[in-house]
Order: sequence, then structure tokens, then C-alpha cells
Amino acid sequence: MIRARTPEAFKDLDRPLEDCVAACFPRSHALLEGARHGLFYSLPVAFDPAEGVGCYLATVDRDEQDEPWRFIDMGAQIATHAFGENDPDLTKAILAALPAVVNRYAHSEYQTVLSLRFKAALDGLAPAGVPRHFVVNTGAEAVENAIKAALLVRARTAGAKEGGVIVSFEGAFHGRTLGALAVTHRKKARLGFPTFDWPQAIFPTEDPRSPAATQRREERSLRQVWEILQGKAHARREAFDEDLGRIDTFLACPADVEAFVAVERERIGTEALKRAWHVAAVLIEPVQGEGGVRMGSTRFFRRLRLLTLI
Ligand SMILES: Cc1ncc(COP(=O)(O)O)c(C=O)c1O
Repeated sequence: MIRARTPEAFKDLDRPLEDCVAACFPRSHALLEGARHGLFYSLPVAFDPAEGVGCYLATVDRDEQDEPWRFIDMGAQIATHAFGENDPDLTKAILAALPAVVNRYAHSEYQTVLSLRFKAALDGLAPAGVPRHFVVNTGAEAVENAIKAALLVRARTAGAKEGGVIVSFEGAFHGRTLGALAVTHRKKARLGFPTFDWPQAIFPTEDPRSPAATQRREERSLRQVWEILQGKAHARREAFDEDLGRIDTFLACPADVEAFVAVERERIGTEALKRAWHVAAVLIEPVQGEGGVRMGSTRFFRRLRLLTLI
């Protein structure tokens, strides 16, 4: 059984957090003080992962019954490690594999028993049509390499020297490497670093209290993406309405996607399709995190997906 407790002093919301920590968490305070020159942090508490259990984080400080104080983990390591703390099966599996994990033969060039088991498991989860695995360590690296893959495919298939552009959305955050920053619209993260001047559309946050306004925002965002694909000079408002109308009709009763896409491509014509090829990919977070925990509607994502398939 876990006793999840924080000191009473933490309930006084007017008291500065640093004061509470200094008074109630002397070990945390001492550890933080000891490392203060090299620190970058927002929560002035020292956790002890060895004492974490399930969704409860543990502090290095202990209460009068010698139990760590516990906080509920609402972040799950920015949603990248949603495993909970110290799951016994997970810990056992990691410890069993640990001696071999350090063996990384020539990146992905040679495979190992472990990497093959891992990739077979990924195969079981990956959506249909995912051709290969490329395993990296961080979100930014994943985005960086996804961008490169999209640009490479576009350069090869379009026979162009340059891979084109990636369309992203206002409020997006995709990481801190230079490529990921090009699709990140948080001014604080971009800081004036040189980056690609790629187009962006508005992110149509779903507001359940105002379905009509949500729908208007969604259509404005879709129209922006559609205009980027068409090229401004060729974008006629009525043509967008007609295209969206056909997408909606299909989505109301979806049958053969490939057949629908083929008919639409035929209708659009070679010239317009060629123009659209300067867009290598459209990159979007289903739920914006850093952008303010904002969600788009299922309807928006289904329409966007189909628009980009065409
Ligand atoms: C949506 C999204 N993409 C990418 C990243 C970057 O991930 P990482 O910090 O692992 O590089 C983050 C990090 O917060 C993120 O929220």
C-alpha cells in the first residue's frame, strides 16, 4: 500500500514554493543548493527514482514515519515514458537485457537478438504502410529524421534537387534540434537561430463549448493547407469548397480510399499535382503539449489526412 502524502505547508498556496521546500524538504534543499551553479529546473524538489512506485514519485526527504513524501506523476516524463515507476516486470526485463544493451553494432547495420525482438514488437504496433524502423533516442531526433526521410522521398520521387517544404502548425513544438526548430513555432525555443522558412497553418483548437467556431477554425486551417498545396496564385475559394465537399461526402461513408484518391488526382490534373509536390509533408501534433495542451477534433484530423493523401 502506498501512502501518498505531501507536507501540510504545501497546501498554503500563498507561500512561495522555495520557502516550503527549504522548510519541509531539507535534503532536497541541500542537494539543490549543492548543485545550484549547473542547474536548470522548475520544481525545487529532489526525487529518488529508486523509491518511486507506480504513478507516485518519491522525494529524497522522508516523513516522520520514514516514508518518502510522494507526488502523483502527472507528466510521465513528458509522456515519453508512460510506464509508471519501478514496474517489477519492466525492471526485471531491463535488468536481464542490460549487459547486452550496450552492444550496438554499427548502428542499424547489424541486427542483434534484442534489436530484432524489439523491431518485431514494433511491427505489431505500427500502422499499416510503415515500411521501416529507424530507432533513435529522443523526440527531436525522431522528428529530425522524419523530416529528412520526407524530404528525401520527395526529392527522389519528384526528380527535384531539393526535397521541398514541411508544413507545420502555429503553436507547434517538435524539439530543439535545428531541423525540428524549423517546424516549431514557440518563439522562446527558436531564439533567432537560422532555420528554414517553411509555411504554417493555424492549429484549430477544438472548443466543445463552441462547435460552430471550432468548425470555422478547422476550415480556415484546412484552406490554408490546401492553398499551400495549390500555390496561392491558383487557389480559388470555390474550388476549395468543392474539394472539401467531396472529402466530407467520402468521409461520411468511407469506402475504398485508394479509389477515391485516384479519382481526385485524375480530376485535379497533372499540373496542380506537380505544384503540390513542393510540400514534402504536413506535420502536426494530435494534442499540442507545449502549445498549451490544445486538441484538434477527430473530424479535422480525418479531413486533413485525406486532403494530404490526395
Ligand atoms: C510534441 C513533441 N515533439 C518532440 C519533442 C522533443 O522530444 P525530446 O525532448 O525527446 O527531444 C517534444 C518534447 O517535449 C514534444 O512535446
